Amino acid sequence: METPHPVKLTVLGAGPGGYAAAIRAAQLGAEVTLVERERVGGTCLNWGCVPTKVFKAAADTMEQVRRAGRMGLAVTAAAAIDLQALATRQAEVVRIQADGIHRLLRQHHVRYLKGEGTIPHWGAMRVQLPDGGTETLAWERLILATGSRPANLPALPFDGRRIWSSNHVLALTRLPRSLVIIGAGVIGCEFARILNAFGVQVTLVEMLSRLLPLPAVDADVSKVLQREMRKRDIAIHLNHRVSGCRVTADDVEVLLEPLSGEGDPSGRGTKICRAEGVLVCVGRIANTAGLGLEGLGIATDAHGGVPADARLQTGAEGIFAVGDVLGPARPMLAHVATHEGLRAAENALGASRAMAYNAVPLVVYSCPELAGVGLSEAQARARGLPTSVTRVLFRNVAKAHILGAIEGEAKIVAHAEGGRILGLHLVGPEAAELIAEGVAGLQAGLTVDELADHLHAHPTLSEIWQEAALKAAGRPLHG
Ligand code: NAI
Repeated sequence: METPHPVKLTVLGAGPGGYAAAIRAAQLGAEVTLVERERVGGTCLNWGCVPTKVFKAAADTMEQVRRAGRMGLAVTAAAAIDLQALATRQAEVVRIQADGIHRLLRQHHVRYLKGEGTIPHWGAMRVQLPDGGTETLAWERLILATGSRPANLPALPFDGRRIWSSNHVLALTRLPRSLVIIGAGVIGCEFARILNAFGVQVTLVEMLSRLLPLPAVDADVSKVLQREMRKRDIAIHLNHRVSGCRVTADDVEVLLEPLSGEGDPSGRGTKICRAEGVLVCVGRIANTAGLGLEGLGIATDAHGGVPADARLQTGAEGIFAVGDVLGPARPMLAHVATHEGLRAAENALGASRAMAYNAVPLVVYSCPELAGVGLSEAQARARGLPTSVTRVLFRNVAKAHILGAIEGEAKIVAHAEGGRILGLHLVGPEAAELIAEGVAGLQAGLTVDELADHLHAHPTLSEIWQEAALKAAGRPLHG
């Protein structure tokens, strides 16, 4: 009897979506080739999540050293950032992760092919190899995981000298004295925190009316973050759009135009911000140009993303898409990409499972950290749900006092009838870690009463959930 041949599956892009898809497809018996033009790990590992968190860890340590006196320690020398040493540490952390990914690919017999892939027609991929040659691969299933790149502002094109993307900032060899950050989204707030801790004078400009103006970020936690950033002397201009800039020999003049009626048409309300550099972080654009998608009948949407159905299949049979290449219509987050990668591989090989987005944690490594999962209060009300909200301050939790980090709060958004949890939000110490319990609770469909009955070890920061749930259930203890 003839044995069926393994399905030939090609993945284009080896970021957290692509390499996860490749491994899962290999586990399911496919013959997998993973094509990547740069490095395994994609933006997340090389220019995003991982290197920025190495910077963030240094920023946290700086802050701890500065606050050492309050913790009962006498530290005599001032902490100073050593960018060279930090770059070495960053490279080492990235190398360890990259080596791990290569090892996993080898263990799963995934063929890793370095080169730039384009798709001349259904079933084929042409790969431009680094040595100048080309190789053509045959595939029966294709997973697109080509990611995204920083979006430009036409008035401020990146030059790497004075006008930077997040990639440029990570490669700086000297810190600027001052920096204007355009866009108070996730990247803007994270870099504001890091560079402020490093001693850079930071000005943050956002055209909407609050920090992190994403629907899923609750307005109350955003307000707390704004207060804490101002306490750290970060200048914040909300409701201002950057309308132009002038690069001089030693600095940049950025023009801020007031929105929402603050200014007047004569331009008299326009402000000028002067700084050594400008970081533009106004979103990311899907990497789709030049892949050959048009020839496959795959049209990109208004934001350049690839539309896909609930199973992550694009408009072309057998071609799936995962991660940032799907565009901002879905969360552009590394952990979402990984889950989409696993799901797409399974669906490409015969399963039919929809990707669920109802319990996606969003974490912002600001100071303090901010995290949320599920609906914000505004989203719940906009859906017409009878909504109850409960807020508890971190200062009600003993561990926050022990750590000397009492700023911030937790908020539970629940259904007013029955108490089913709809969303959980935090701003405060270790919010990025604490949200994991929120994800589990939301996914399990818990009510506030059920969450209140979970035992939380004492003293831990996780007790903030117990306090918030007890209060939401009408039986507050400390909160
Ligand atoms: P973003 O979409 O989160 O924020 C961009 C901000 O820029 C918006 O608030 C927007 O109103 C503002 N803006 C746009 N044009 C402007 C102008 N001319 N003047 C002033 N403000 C302007 O985009 P961001 O921060 O670049 O991040 C890109 C993606 O990367 C996001 O999807 C984000 O979720 C993801 N990411 C996630 C991280 C995490 O999970 N911790 C870390 C870093 C990035």
